[in-house]
Amino acid sequence: MQISVIGAGYVGLTTAACLAEIGHQVLCADNDLDKLKKLNSGLLPFFEPHLDSLVKNNAASGRLQFTSPTEAIERGSAIFICVGTPPLESGEADLSAIESVARTIASTARGYRLVIEKSTVPVQTAKRLWKHLAIYNVNGLDFDVVSNPEFLREGSAVGDFFHPDRIVIGAESPRAVAMMKEIYAPVLTSPAACPIHSHCPPVHEVPLIVTDTNSAELVKHASNSFLAMKISFINLVADACEAAGADIAKVAEGIGSDQRIGQSFLNPGIGFGGFCFPKDLQAFVRIGEKLGCDFSLLKEVENINLRRVEQFVAKVRKELWVLRGKTLAIWGLAFKPETDDVRFAPALNIARRLLAEGARIRAYDPQAMQKAKDELPGITYCLSPNEAAHRADAILILTEWAEFRRPDWAELAKTVAHPLVIDGRNLCASEELAAHGFQYVCIGRPQLALPTAAKEFEVSPLLGLAPLASPPLSASARPLP
Ligand code: UGA
Repeated sequence: MQISVIGAGYVGLTTAACLAEIGHQVLCADNDLDKLKKLNSGLLPFFEPHLDSLVKNNAASGRLQFTSPTEAIERGSAIFICVGTPPLESGEADLSAIESVARTIASTARGYRLVIEKSTVPVQTAKRLWKHLAIYNVNGLDFDVVSNPEFLREGSAVGDFFHPDRIVIGAESPRAVAMMKEIYAPVLTSPAACPIHSHCPPVHEVPLIVTDTNSAELVKHASNSFLAMKISFINLVADACEAAGADIAKVAEGIGSDQRIGQSFLNPGIGFGGFCFPKDLQAFVRIGEKLGCDFSLLKEVENINLRRVEQFVAKVRKELWVLRGKTLAIWGLAFKPETDDVRFAPALNIARRLLAEGARIRAYDPQAMQKAKDELPGITYCLSPNEAAHRADAILILTEWAEFRRPDWAELAKTVAHPLVIDGRNLCASEELAAHGFQYVCIGRPQLALPTAAKEFEVSPLLGLAPLASPPLSASARPLP
């Protein structure tokens, strides 16, 4: 099918390249001429595993081309709208880019067009889109509007396209549903077409959920909000583990083994970031307000998440007392591994807070440093984790890149000023660190015994520096006579 994708961001470019890979003729369009020029010469605007080769191969075969939105709209039978919907001051999604694409479609296209809304939008946007296309229609355009939410995760977006958990199609006409089925047929019927695995995950039938446009739009916001809620929930439980002396890893395993709950998204840490969860959660709260529904549950999910940054900084303060003049190595800046995306990254917020307290920061990230430099000047960017750790008072692990899991701790012990690791992602094995003389602080797990010198005094949150002694047992905790 001749398909146009408007918007060459994370979602648009990945969707365009994957649609070309499954055999469609794809025009990927963007208003940013500089971006188009770079794409035409094979340069991607962001890092995403496997996307580079997918774009290059499909561009070389002629199945993927880059062009202006107007040309793409003139030529595509199916038009995927993948433009940005950034948050407004109020938390609502800014739909101006979608509105602008709709007007271009209405004024440019002729004949029939399937208009597919893939950007994350509030419920009832497809209906608005339909009205808008009808109002501005000057060429007798015949069209359908479909909501087809995306569930691609940054860092594994290409794999997610070829092995989706489900495909959701919100449509109001049989013609639209038939065209959507035709577009996704290779993914629905032949997972072996996957370009990234030599052995694909076991073949399962991909559920195709066909519904009305309102429901499809709600699936997207509700899915992201539910996942965000799961993360905030486990972060609360991690706090309880810390306070009670339990191990969040075991607690999460115990909870997640219930099939109704599941193991994924139960990793505690410094909170969720990225350009999806924080903004989608806020947008969903605003949608709830507009619909007259009480979404205070989700407001609390957001509040819990916002507190994670401050709680992590408090952990650093607890270990190092005054941060002014301290050197801190930050390992990881991206909001998650396998991406260079630093938008709403908790690591950057933590770095800002530490800088404000007068700490010196030496940071390393395998992919995200270029993007971080624009947002966070005033810190030292290093070429390796070891270089960042040079004479550091603590190493802070803020993104769970695989290379931070098992570095050469023996070598690092010689480099650092003080052998302390504060792990915001529970990435490391505490025994391994202890064996190399490191004190290891993480999230929601008991600390291994401190080295003797440090053991004499432990900081109590209420009393400040206090000798570590067995607390007197409360009446209820005393052994029965
Ligand atoms: C998310 C959804 O997972 C996708 O399904 C959706 O398509 C996408 O948003 C979107 O709306 O475009 P993404 O933001 O790329 O994908 O990343 P996730 O893997 O969902 O992680 C989001 C954040 O949650 C990260 O900061 C991650 O570190 C954090 N997280 C995740 C945790 O803190 N704990 C976990 O257990 C899982």
